[in-house]
Amino acid sequence: MNESWNGGTAVVPGSYDPVTFGHFDIIARVANVFDTVIVGVVNQAVRKGKTVFSTEERVAFIESEVAEYPNVQVKPFDTLLVDFAREHGAKAIVKGLRAISDFEYEFEMNQLNRKLAPDIESIYLMSAPQFSFLSSSGVKELAMFGGDMSGLVPDRVASRLQEELKR
Ligand code: PNS
Repeated sequence: MNESWNGGTAVVPGSYDPVTFGHFDIIARVANVFDTVIVGVVNQAVRKGKTVFSTEERVAFIESEVAEYPNVQVKPFDTLLVDFAREHGAKAIVKGLRAISDFEYEFEMNQLNRKLAPDIESIYLMSAPQFSFLSSSGVKELAMFGGDMSGLVPDRVASRLQEELKR
C-alpha cells in the first residue's frame, strides 16, 4: 500500500455535444474525490458523426458552469485518450454509467484503454437517478422538435441547440 497516496489527477472525457446536467453531476462528484480534474473534450470522436457544436463552443459551455470548482480545468484533445491522460499526469479516467446499455461500449473502451495503458485506471460512477435517462443525443432530439430542455442542459446550451437544430 502506498502511504503517500493523495487524490491525484483524473480525466473525465467525452464528446460533450452538448454537455448536460448529467455530465456536470459526474464532474462535480469527481472534483470532490480527486485533487485535479481535467474535463477532456474530444475534438472529433471516431465512432460518432460530425458534432453539432465546435470544440471551442463545447469547451466554453463546460467552462462557464465549472467556474465555481477551482480544481476543474477543461481541455480539448485529439489524441488517444490514454495519451491525453498521461500528458496531464492523470492516474485515472473517470466516466459516468447510466444504465446497462452503456456497459457494453464502456467495457470495450475499458479493455482498449487498459491494453494501451495498464497504469491508468478506469473508474465508473453510477449516474444519479434523476439523470439516468439523460443523454446528449436525447437532448438533441428534443431540440429538433421544440421540446422543453429546462433541467436537462444550461439555458445557454438550450438556446444554442434551438438555433442549430429546431426544424
Ligand atoms: O461517448 P463519448 O462521449 O463520445 O466518449 C469519447 C471517449 C474519448 C471518452 C471514448 O471514445 C473513449 O473512451 N475512447 C477511447 C479510445 C480513444 O482514445 N479514442 C480516441 C479519441 S475518440
